[in-house]
Amino acid sequence: MNGSDHRLSVALVEVKPGKEEEFLALSIRFEALLIRKEYGRAETIRDEAEPLRFYAVRHWNDLSAAERCHGDPEIQVLTAQLYQLARVTHVVNGVRRPDSMKLLTGDRRARVEADRRTGFDRRQHNLGRSGGDQRVGVERRMGPRRLRDRGGEGSVDLVAAARRARVNADAAFSHFKVGAALEAADGTVITGCNIENATYGLTICAERVAMFKALSDGHRAFTRIAIVADTESPTPPCGACRQILWEFGGNLEVQLANLKESKGVHSLKDLLPLPFDARLL
Ligand code: THU
Repeated sequence: MNGSDHRLSVALVEVKPGKEEEFLALSIRFEALLIRKEYGRAETIRDEAEPLRFYAVRHWNDLSAAERCHGDPEIQVLTAQLYQLARVTHVVNGVRRPDSMKLLTGDRRARVEADRRTGFDRRQHNLGRSGGDQRVGVERRMGPRRLRDRGGEGSVDLVAAARRARVNADAAFSHFKVGAALEAADGTVITGCNIENATYGLTICAERVAMFKALSDGHRAFTRIAIVADTESPTPPCGACRQILWEFGGNLEVQLANLKESKGVHSLKDLLPLPFDARLL
């Protein structure tokens, strides 16, 4: 280990019920302070499977920055305030060395190559086609889905996660806020909300935000998506989102809901009959 190694710690935090907003606000102040004082950076990630559980990730620039940070009275005051709201249950400390990063990159590349091969397979087998159940290929691709009990007892409340994600929607033009929560085959929940902009046309829907976030984090197999809007009639995914969800997620279960109740569950293949995808290229 040397002084220039990046220090990393991940704390598993259980927040007291009802204190989530306060905890997140304080965490943002903590993150800003770390950057301002050049100690490093931090991020607070909610475990969507356990709404009161968060991962507090701290990246210090080096060992001395970590030590200065711990001794900093301003940091200590904020940390004490955070402890009023939450309990740290586990901590993992680590060092990120340049060579271990290289290894990680190599590993990722290997996964991408495998993925590309899957893409070629998709052109050869009858994957994900609606109308006709000859889905040998899709069964293989969707294999991991069976690892989890879809929507059964003890499964993640995806709709609740989508409702929380909706709060962050930036819908300044339509005022139509949407939240989405996508479940990956390993159980990870990735959320999204719609983001609009002044040109209107560059707007991106909640579902695609969730899917692109998931893909960029390395997820490649998915089970379900929940979509939430504040409407009496169900808000189903738009055509562009159906296409992207189909190509990257296959025949997902699509849960629709508003702020109070479920508005129906569908299979993506029913929402997108006769799809165009890579098999047809
Ligand atoms: N929108 C979504 O985010 N998802 C949907 O399923 C339907 C529509 C967004 C796009 C736009 O920001 C706003 O809702 C109005 O169309």
